[in-house]
Amino acid sequence: MLTLGIESSCDETAAAVVDDTGLVHSDVIRSQVALHAPYGGIVPELASRDHVKGITLVIREALSRAGKRFDDLGGVAVTARPGLSGALLVGVQVAKGIAWARDLPIVGVDHLVGHLLAVFLRSPAAAEAPAYPFVALLASGGHTAIYRVDAPNLGDIHELGATRDDAAGEAFDKVAKIVGLGYPGGPLVDRLAAKGRADRFPIPAPMARRDSLEFSFSGVKSFVARHVAEHGKPTSEEALADLCAGFQRTVVDSLVTKTVRAARAEGVRSVVLAGGVAANRELRQTAAEACAQVGLSLSVPPMASCTDNAAMIAYAGALRLARGERDDLSFGTATRTALLRVTRKGGGPRAGAR
Ligand code: KG4
Ligand code: ZN
Repeated sequence: MLTLGIESSCDETAAAVVDDTGLVHSDVIRSQVALHAPYGGIVPELASRDHVKGITLVIREALSRAGKRFDDLGGVAVTARPGLSGALLVGVQVAKGIAWARDLPIVGVDHLVGHLLAVFLRSPAAAEAPAYPFVALLASGGHTAIYRVDAPNLGDIHELGATRDDAAGEAFDKVAKIVGLGYPGGPLVDRLAAKGRADRFPIPAPMARRDSLEFSFSGVKSFVARHVAEHGKPTSEEALADLCAGFQRTVVDSLVTKTVRAARAEGVRSVVLAGGVAANRELRQTAAEACAQVGLSLSVPPMASCTDNAAMIAYAGALRLARGERDDLSFGTATRTALLRVTRKGGGPRAGAR
């Protein structure tokens, strides 16, 4: 059965056709990077308006590249949460229109579940899919958490620890801005860091307590901000690369150490990386080495399936549709995930989180 996936939660307008085995028939993404770049970050109202402009084009293109028509579809899946309200509404309304007009079943998908299942997408570049249960690190622009995933359903995905403040991708974007690079910062810092020496500006590890699975990235970002306030923005390419390398090393080490710790504590054999930050080359490399050292198998989606896309939404929806689940046309959007959170934002004592 073929599912049309639609994604418009943030700054990508995307549509894809995927079947319930995860085989990707088409995967089309219209990025808004150029639109938001002059502002150094995402402007929500501009994002919504651009989704309106692009969404039918993207859906037509996804069907055409798959060589399919609306009549060939078995259902529609759309990101319903979490994300920017206005942006989410565009995708959800269009998806409902298609479902109503074509009498197709529809499901709203949690964007984070989409990211966590992206590793099951089947395309020529795909890695071997993991076996359940696995521990996943989901690190994106809005979320950073470690999950235990026993099955693809919402109720079978449990947060083990998350960030108390900034998401990892948010830290990459903010640091890029502080040192004078553009938006989005992740790929730019990644490229520069590869040329730099991480030991020239060593940044202390955050939340390094032995048993903690929580993250904190705002202190790492502040370290870079203080350095720039005291010494000015790096003027040579070499100093800029070294600063990026120092920042990236600390973030990557924190993400990898805690993910491996979680996998060992949970007794699972497989680890998965997901979300935009999983496109980071040092993260992929360091995670591969750390997992190999302790006999864990690591599965990482191809880079294009880590960052926002509609194929992961189509697949997460296809599994629900295949189980006979349907949402009625009155379902709404939400800015927060439906996954239960154990980590509270901010400081102070906490119960339940490890
Ligand atoms: O998953 P995603 O595309 O969107 C959200 O759901 O947030 O993640 C976007 C985030 C941005 O913060 C971006 O800077 C970061 O992922 N990112 C990276 C890399 N590519 C994207 N961070 C580090 N290294 C990269 N190569
Ligand atoms: Zn995302």
